[in-house]
Amino acid sequence: MAILPIVLFPEKILKQKCDKVTSFDKKLAKLLNNMYETMVEADGVGLAAPQVGVKKQVAVVEIEEGSAIELINPEVLEMEGEQTGVEGCLSFPSLYGEVSRPYRVKVRAQDRKGSFFEIEAEDFLARALQHEIDHLQGVLFTSKVSRYISEEELERFGEE
Ligand code: CO
Repeated sequence: MAILPIVLFPEKILKQKCDKVTSFDKKLAKLLNNMYETMVEADGVGLAAPQVGVKKQVAVVEIEEGSAIELINPEVLEMEGEQTGVEGCLSFPSLYGEVSRPYRVKVRAQDRKGSFFEIEAEDFLARALQHEIDHLQGVLFTSKVSRYISEEELERFGEE
C-alpha cells in the first residue's frame, strides 16, 4: 500500500463530477487500499477519490477503527430528518464549519467486486457518508457551511 498525496482546495478536480466506475479490477482494489491507508495516516474519517486526484465515484468512510465502508458509485436513496454539526475536510486543512444535513440516510453502492449493497445510517455516520458522496458530485462542504468555527472553538467542542 502507499500513502497518496491529498489534493487541496482550490484544485479543479475537487469541483468536478466524478465518473462512474465500470471495471471492478485490481487497479480499483489498489486505489481503495491506498485511499484507506491515506485516510488513516491523515487522521480522517472519510476520503473521496478526487481528493487523491482520481475522478471516479469511489470513497471510503471509517468513523471507528475496524468499521471501514467502501463506496463505489454510491447513491442516496432516502433521507430523513435534520442534524447540525461541525465538519472538516482533508482538502481544507484547519477549516471547520457547521453544516446541516439529513439525520438519517439510506445509501446504495457497490463494493470492490461490483456487488450492490444498501446501508442505512444515522447521526455522525450519515453525515460522513453524505460528505463523501457530495465529493463525488463535485460538491464541497464549504458550500453548505452556515458558520465557520475557529480552532479554539473547536477545542471547546471536543471538551464537551
Ligand atoms: Co471532504
